[in-house]
Amino acid sequence: MSVVGGKAMTLNVIILAAGNGRWMVSHFPKVMLTISSESLLSRVIRTAQSLHPSQMNIVYGNGGSDIPNAFPQIHANWVHQYDQLGTGHAVMQALPFCKDKEQILVLYGDVPFISTDTLKKLLTVAQEKKGIGLLVATLPHPKGFGRIIRDKQNHITAIIEEKDATLEQRAIQEINTGIITAPVAFLKKLLPKIENHNAQKEYYLTDVIALFVQSGYPIADITTTDLMEIRGVNDLWQLMELERDFQQRRAQELAYNGVIIVDHTRLDIRGNVDIASAVQLEVNVILEGNVKIGAGSKIGPNVYIKNSIIGEQVTVLANSVIEGATIENHCSVGPFARIRTGTLMRTQSKIGNFVETKATILGENSKASHLTYLGDATIGKNVNIGAGTITCNYDGINKWPTEIGDGAFIGSNTSLIAPIQVGENATIAAGSAVSKHVPPEQLTIVRAKQETAKHWKRPSKKNPVLANKKLVD
Ligand code: UD1
Ligand code: CA
Repeated sequence: MSVVGGKAMTLNVIILAAGNGRWMVSHFPKVMLTISSESLLSRVIRTAQSLHPSQMNIVYGNGGSDIPNAFPQIHANWVHQYDQLGTGHAVMQALPFCKDKEQILVLYGDVPFISTDTLKKLLTVAQEKKGIGLLVATLPHPKGFGRIIRDKQNHITAIIEEKDATLEQRAIQEINTGIITAPVAFLKKLLPKIENHNAQKEYYLTDVIALFVQSGYPIADITTTDLMEIRGVNDLWQLMELERDFQQRRAQELAYNGVIIVDHTRLDIRGNVDIASAVQLEVNVILEGNVKIGAGSKIGPNVYIKNSIIGEQVTVLANSVIEGATIENHCSVGPFARIRTGTLMRTQSKIGNFVETKATILGENSKASHLTYLGDATIGKNVNIGAGTITCNYDGINKWPTEIGDGAFIGSNTSLIAPIQVGENATIAAGSAVSKHVPPEQLTIVRAKQETAKHWKRPSKKNPVLANKKLVD
């Protein structure tokens, strides 16, 4: 039971998602294309759910069972349209699952940004008239849309698809958004009467409008001025245009909230972001999933951040990749750093260039500035990890931990063969391959002894002429 305009009505939603995407270059089902990492169909399903319908029917066909399989948590009646014979035919496949007293709302799986507010308004006017509701819009360039035909009293009489329209009708700028609501009983009575004598040899849902008018059923229409919410994806260019416009909107929202964006055309936000004011986003930043960034942080060019929390006044330098990490205030990352899942950087710590971390805690004010791998490591405060240090955490079967106490100094090119513990304030000499626990406060050296061979001489060629000849032979 959905409550619209204060009154209760039993709403049944039909989402059309079976189309064969005949203009698409690829065979990928059109409704599974994504905008900001979420499929077109998923967006429409979320909007439909926000109306709390008694049932949601999703008509699928092109792409087969891949489409229902992509939505395991969705409670829907999946209706298979074996042959895609048009939008009217698609609705007809779902009608047997709808009860006569219900109100149908038809949504198009390729129109992803239709808003809950607009749909509620449409349902309200249709309910007031006890009839049909049609969402229309007026476009400066109506190309591709069905046109709204009105009589002299300005009443809607029909919808004509562009491919069937006369030149005069094509000049009409008022279009059909495709979103329609009608009582099930009306549709059950008249939809079977539509025919496919048209340019596309399809059963058009839009043809039912003229039949409604002829039967004297009341039609209410509302218009929307937010043109983004009625845009459809009929080809890959339209997909890209919609993606860019959506990104621009998100960038604009952030800018109005105090985020400094160097170039909105080179920023991609693919998920839920929470970005504080005075954060600076350089060019080609991609933020994906759930990303939080604290005030005053600077994200450099070509940085990818996914499902991570970044604190305040953090600097992330160019070409760094951060995924599944927590980075506390005043830290520094990169350039060219790879911070992997389970990394926790405590306040004022530093991960420098060509350093990779995974499941590692780097303590307050600790640093790994160059060319290092830290995996399954717990590192205390004020630790210095020298260039080229590697935690050898994997024995081919198992992963083992490394623990490094506060104040330790790990010399360059150290191999820490885990499981291993390094005591507080320990120093490890450069080039050591350490396999036993390292005591605190002392210097540990694991190297072959350096020797100099006093009488050694570089070999020289004995007879260059002969040597060359031998090579040639
Ligand atoms: C449709 C409308 C047009 C409207 C436009 C708005 C019709 C005949 N035309 O045109 O008036 O201006 O949308 O975006 O309805 N589908 C099926 N089964 C089918 C055919 C289509 O499920 O047999 C689905 C598609 O997957 C798509 C939706 O219905 O999600 C619309 O189909 P599409 O072919 O894109 O219609 P348009 O030509 O855009
Ligand atoms: Ca379409």
